[in-house]
Amino acid sequence: MTQQFRDKNVMIVGATGGLGSAFARAFAAEGGRLLLVGRDKVALQRIAAEFGDGAVAYPLDLASLDGLADFRATLATVSGRLHVVVNAAGVDVRRSLDAHSVTDIQRLLDVNLRGAIMLTQALLPVLHEDGQIVHVGAFADGRLAFPYHTVDVATRAGLFTFIEGINRELALSRRRVLVSYFAPGPTDTETEREFHPLWRELSIRIDPIDQVVRELFETIQRRQPVHLMGGFSTRLFAHLNAVWPQLADWLVMRRYGRILKGFLSAERNTVLGKTYHSE
Ligand SMILES: NC(=O)c1ccc[n+]([C@@H]2O[C@H](COP(=O)([O-])OP(=O)(O)OC[C@H]3O[C@@H](n4cnc5c(N)ncnc54)[C@H](OP(=O)(O)O)[C@@H]3O)[C@@H](O)[C@H]2O)c1
Repeated sequence: MTQQFRDKNVMIVGATGGLGSAFARAFAAEGGRLLLVGRDKVALQRIAAEFGDGAVAYPLDLASLDGLADFRATLATVSGRLHVVVNAAGVDVRRSLDAHSVTDIQRLLDVNLRGAIMLTQALLPVLHEDGQIVHVGAFADGRLAFPYHTVDVATRAGLFTFIEGINRELALSRRRVLVSYFAPGPTDTETEREFHPLWRELSIRIDPIDQVVRELFETIQRRQPVHLMGGFSTRLFAHLNAVWPQLADWLVMRRYGRILKGFLSAERNTVLGKTYHSE
């Protein structure tokens, strides 16, 4: 059987995360040569060791401007072009705006938006001529402004708009490389698990990681600039929200907000994920 990524150079950013590590394993199974990027050196080495000689690890804190500058300089010295880059690094904060610390806001902007933009800037010169960068976003097309995710959604919306713009810029310079926005819905990862009861209460499907991998591979194979998981209804709702937000409120958003408000008890009103530490 032919392997979809046989001898292709594949970079996974956020390779230590629930989605990132699953992506690394899936690309390796399809023959990809892996460059794994992540913040936690020990966890990164552990994941890379699973693939023996098939993976190289590069520690990078996306929030660090010095780290990004070193990353860019290192890329310039690497021989061989990258075929696929998947950026699955991200920070997720669910709390009222009032409860966001300055550090929360800074971290969200640094990792989800500035980090993704600067990563793209560093990677475009070293992409294969048909290469593709896929940023993992959230909130459907990034512009579904859920309450209690206000800063997070602002970073995803910014990323979505950046991707539209950079693809237009690349087309004008006649480059065939593509930057994509890929949005999973709620998935069965460790970070998301404590919110599964919320999604169930809202009758929103929780996807297994395998489904996310399948749709990611489709996004790459079909060279889609945008892929929203959740099927037709999610795409329709994202469009509806853009043109008629009051109807989106009436149909889903108000109810979601009420349920989420109840769900975010004082003790849950914390930053999600083991990757983030409030100062
Ligand atoms: N899981 C879901 O249901 C779901 C649904 C929609 C969208 N998403 C989005 O998909 C992305 C990945 O989700 P996940 O479930 O895999 O989350 P996760 O398990 O918490 O993984 C997040 C990854 O981001 C990395 N990261 C965080 N801050 C970083 C920094 N400053 N520099 C470099 N890497 C950093 C983490 O690395 P360290 O561990 O080293 O800190 C980790 O590898 C996130 O953007 C999330 O919002 C997830």
